[in-house]
Amino acid sequence: MRITVIGCGYLGAVHAACMAKLGHTVVGIDVDEQKVAQLSNARAPFYEPELDQLLREVQETGRLSFSTDMAAAHGSDVHFICVGTPQKKGENGADLTFVDAATEGLLPFLSPGDVVVGKSTVPVGTASRLAGLVQTNEPDAHLVWNPEFLREGHAIADTLHPDRLVYGVSDGSEDHPAVAVLDEVYAAPLASGTPRLVTDRPTAELVKAAANSFLATKISFINAMAEVCEAAGADVTQLADAIGMDDRIGRKFLHAGIGFGGGCLPKDIRAFMARAGELGADQALTFLREVDAINMRRRTRVVELARDLCEGSLLGKRVTVLGAAFKPDSDDVRDSPALSIAAQLQLQGAVVTVTDPKALANAARRFPDLHYEADTSTAVQKADALLLLTEWQEYRDLDPYELATSVSSLRVLDGRNVLDAAKWRAAGWQYRGLGRP
Ligand code: UGA
Repeated sequence: MRITVIGCGYLGAVHAACMAKLGHTVVGIDVDEQKVAQLSNARAPFYEPELDQLLREVQETGRLSFSTDMAAAHGSDVHFICVGTPQKKGENGADLTFVDAATEGLLPFLSPGDVVVGKSTVPVGTASRLAGLVQTNEPDAHLVWNPEFLREGHAIADTLHPDRLVYGVSDGSEDHPAVAVLDEVYAAPLASGTPRLVTDRPTAELVKAAANSFLATKISFINAMAEVCEAAGADVTQLADAIGMDDRIGRKFLHAGIGFGGGCLPKDIRAFMARAGELGADQALTFLREVDAINMRRRTRVVELARDLCEGSLLGKRVTVLGAAFKPDSDDVRDSPALSIAAQLQLQGAVVTVTDPKALANAARRFPDLHYEADTSTAVQKADALLLLTEWQEYRDLDPYELATSVSSLRVLDGRNVLDAAKWRAAGWQYRGLGRP
C-alpha cells in the first residue's frame, strides 16, 4: 500500500520505518526540515535502539522517503497522523494545535476512498470532530482512530508485534470499509496472531487514555506502598514480588522508585482529567489527581533521602546523578524525574554532575545550568554521593568495589531499586533504596 505518515517524532519516525519494513511504500512528512534531512540520510533524530539500522535497511529498498511538503501525501491510500499532543501551557488539557494543523494540511490532498488514521493520543471526541472536517472536504474518505501503544526503547518491536490493534470507526462495525484497508496495512502482525478489536471512535480514543492511566496508577500504587514501607520499616521490593505472584495483579509496572515521567503518562493522565471535567465526569477521575500527587512526591522524597545520606546537608556536597533520560534506552528527557531531582539538588546547594549514555544533549538544552559529564568514571570522581536515577544497564552493572576507589564517600542512593543492596553494603557502601529499610 502507499502510506503517508504525518509527524516524524518518536512515534511517527518509528511508524514510518516499520510500515516500510512491512512492505508498504511510505512517505514521512514533517514540518521540521532538519529532522527530514536527517531521516532522509537514514539517521534517527533521537535515540531508539536499532532504529538507525532499520532506516538504512528500508531506505535501501526505495520504499521509504521523507518530505516537508504535505503535497507528498497525494496518491497515498492511508494517511497516519502521528504528531504530538503536548500538555497546554499552564493547563492540564492537551494542546491539539499539531493534530489540527496536520489534518487541515492534509485535506487538499485527499482522494475518494482514502483512510485518515489518527494515532496520536487525543481527548475523546477529537476523532469525531476531525472526521467532520475530512467529510466536508472529501465525502468519500474515512477517518479512523487507531491508538498507538508503543514504549520508547522498545518502539520497533512494539510496532511490528503489538499486543493488540484497535480500530475506531464511525459505526463501530466490522463491515466498515476502512477495516479491510487497515487489515491490509497490518496484514503481517495480524497473520502472526495479533488480536484486533473494532470499536466506535470514542471507545478507541478512550482505550489509549485508560491504558496509560492504568499504568500510571499501577506505578503510583506501588510508590504509595513504598511510602508506607518506609514508615513501617518494610521492603517494597519484596512486597511487590509477593503481590505480583498473583497473576490478577502481575509483577510488571510494580517497580517502586522515583516515579514515572516522559512525554506520555504525566500529560496523558492530566489531559484525561481535564477532558472528563469537560464531559461532566470529573468525579470519575479524581483519583488520578492522587496518582499524579504520589508520583510528584517521590521526587521530593529522593531529595530528602539524599540530604539524609549526606549527613543532613547538601550544601557543597558533590552529588553525581547517574541517568538523565526518563527511562533507559531512550534519550527523551521530557518530564524526566531524574533531571527534575538533579535540578532540585542543585537548588539546595549540592554540586551536581549528571551523566547519561544518550540523553546529555537533550538534558543540557532543558536544564542548561546543570553540569554534565559524558564519561561515567570521570563523573563519579570524588563524589560525596551517587544517585542512580535512570536504570541504564551500565549503571546496574557498576562494580561497587571498583567504584569505591574513585569516590570521596561510599554513599549510594538507588532511585530505581535495581542494585544488589547486600553486595554494595558488603563493599562498604552506605546504601539507600526507596521504600526499603
Ligand atoms: C508509555 C506506555 O507504556 C506506552 O504503552 C504508551 O504507548 C506510551 O506511554 C505512549 O503513550 O506513547 P513510555 O512513555 O515509553 O510508554 O514509557 P513507560 O515504559 O510506560 O515508562 C513510563 C515511566 O514510568 C518511566 O519514567 C519509567 O521509568 C516509569 N516506570 C515504569 C516506573 O517508575 N515503574 C515501573 O514499574 C514502570
